[in-house]
Amino acid sequence: MKFYASVLAPLLFCLDAERAHQLAILALKSGIYPRALKKLDPILESELWGMKFPTPIGVAAGFDKNAEVCGTLLDLGFGFSETGTVTPNAQVGNDKPRMFRLTKDRGIINRLGFNNKGHEYFLRNVRRWHKKQGPDVIGVNIGKNKDTEDEISDFVAGVKAFSDYASYLVINVSSPNTPGLRDLQSRDNLTRLLEAALLARAECQTKPPLLVKMAPDLSEPEAKDIAEVAIKTKIDGIIVSNTTTQRPASLKSKNSFQPGGLSGEPVFEMSTQLLRQMYHTTNGKVPLIGVGGVSDGLQAYQKIKAGASLVQLYSGMIFVGPAIAIKVAAELARLMKKDGFSSMSDIIGLDHR
Ligand code: FNR
Repeated sequence: MKFYASVLAPLLFCLDAERAHQLAILALKSGIYPRALKKLDPILESELWGMKFPTPIGVAAGFDKNAEVCGTLLDLGFGFSETGTVTPNAQVGNDKPRMFRLTKDRGIINRLGFNNKGHEYFLRNVRRWHKKQGPDVIGVNIGKNKDTEDEISDFVAGVKAFSDYASYLVINVSSPNTPGLRDLQSRDNLTRLLEAALLARAECQTKPPLLVKMAPDLSEPEAKDIAEVAIKTKIDGIIVSNTTTQRPASLKSKNSFQPGGLSGEPVFEMSTQLLRQMYHTTNGKVPLIGVGGVSDGLQAYQKIKAGASLVQLYSGMIFVGPAIAIKVAAELARLMKKDGFSSMSDIIGLDHR
């Protein structure tokens, strides 16, 4: 961690943020990365959807858009990784530059626009991991192409393509950089979309858990609609949340005016608040993955107590480095023990009891 903070980060931060990310993917692909040597504390183990998680800390979608390093990320000490967002056809995304560090705020703004290599390339990669990695949990986050004429059929194609290879599937209706995507979060649109996705899953040989990922920029009634649709359609979980289009007044970095989705520390409060609301509205009956602004054990602890069964992070990795998974896990285990808890189930949704 010290090496990252004092040597690597200053070098990487001289580069454009997207270029630095490409280098990180290259390093992971080439095997040049620090493997997690410390054993994870068994207090962090949990089971969800019939799968075992050695730690609740996972990698959020967007880091490994093409499933090129999904298994490798687990070597860093993550308990699971979520690949994608992948769309049926390859697409280049928005014009560059389109990813910006807000260093003073420990935030990121991106307007990548689902740049990815499409289903076919992705499928070849997940198939390989699927064969090699056995019990590892690798989720697949699916989206729609920017120029699609039929949004629902893009998602249905994703469900059909990846059901046999994904540990879980995520219907992503919350990225702010694909025009019209967030409209799919409304009660009627979301019901139609999830019903179609569930029907497609029912026709597949393997039926992985199906989740939806929501934005933090929803009003209370809109968020309540999503909770009710989730319960009615009986999907398996909700990810709270994606990036925000809001710009908190506290932002200090010169890049904070950039259009796109803001992530990292500035979204911690709003995404945790929404997570708390979703747990409350669903009566804790729908498993939640908490994501947004986590870079230490206390923040992970707060997400879990607010209602998350699992936690993900992305932006924190840019500021803390690849050892973040082990750091957050160790800090979380320490906090749990200090408060007298002995298992994950003791703390999930604790704030509501
Ligand atoms: C993302 N995120 C994202 N989410 C998603 O569902 N599909 C995607 O393709 C992407 N792409 C993406 C790119 C970049 C550069 C960033 C920083 C983020 C959102 C991400 O998964 C997560 O929800 C938010 O970033 C909040 O978590 P952090 O970054 O604050 O830990």
